[in-house]
Amino acid sequence: MPKQMVSSPSSRYFYPWAVVLVSCVDADGKPNIITIGASSICSSSPPMVGIAVGVRQYSLTLIEQTQDFGVNIPTAAQVEQTDYCGTYSGRDMNKFEAVGFTPQPSGQIKSPLIDECPVSMECKLAHQINLGGHDWLIGEIVAVHVDEKILDENGELDPAKADPLLSFWGEYWTAGGPLTDWHSSR
Ligand SMILES: Cc1cc2nc3c(=O)[nH]c(=O)nc-3n(C[C@H](O)[C@H](O)[C@H](O)COP(=O)(O)O)c2cc1C
Repeated sequence: MPKQMVSSPSSRYFYPWAVVLVSCVDADGKPNIITIGASSICSSSPPMVGIAVGVRQYSLTLIEQTQDFGVNIPTAAQVEQTDYCGTYSGRDMNKFEAVGFTPQPSGQIKSPLIDECPVSMECKLAHQINLGGHDWLIGEIVAVHVDEKILDENGELDPAKADPLLSFWGEYWTAGGPLTDWHSSR
């Protein structure tokens, strides 16, 4: 397969990105949301997720203060709210109010969750690593809240009902549909 060497190495070639909404809160109790495209599962036991947050982001200050954050998975239908939270800063506004989202109290962390997102995870900051322009924040997932509407009859998440939002080179994409099961090569 003929391939071209691109002019400069870039993490943008690691695609697609699952877009998540990270919720946090300031010292006065005002909640905030930051859209994050750079996120990943890090470990299953204990359950850990990682998010890359720019070192100058307002949300980073809030997460450092509380030492926790919420990871909320938006649906493709929530693309407008997601884009808004990734375009405007919560320094001077309440993004929950601006996009019509409801802060849902968490059980084990200070940061609220987003009631309207089908999956919300409560994360305690476990590690913070500066990588240059971004800090990689690794959160231990201490609780997960899932909308009953995306569960199957056994209480397991039904991917066909999840409709996640992906991002790809400056555009939002939907996930399309399933191809085949894991380990179908056995
Ligand atoms: C699709 C999308 C993905 C983004 N991914 C990231 C990211 O991974 N890390 C980051 O620090 N900012 C990311 N941003 C930018 C922030 O969401 C944006 O700067 C936001 O306004 C910061 O909010 P805050 O000032 O309230 O913290 C992304 C924005 C969009 C639209």
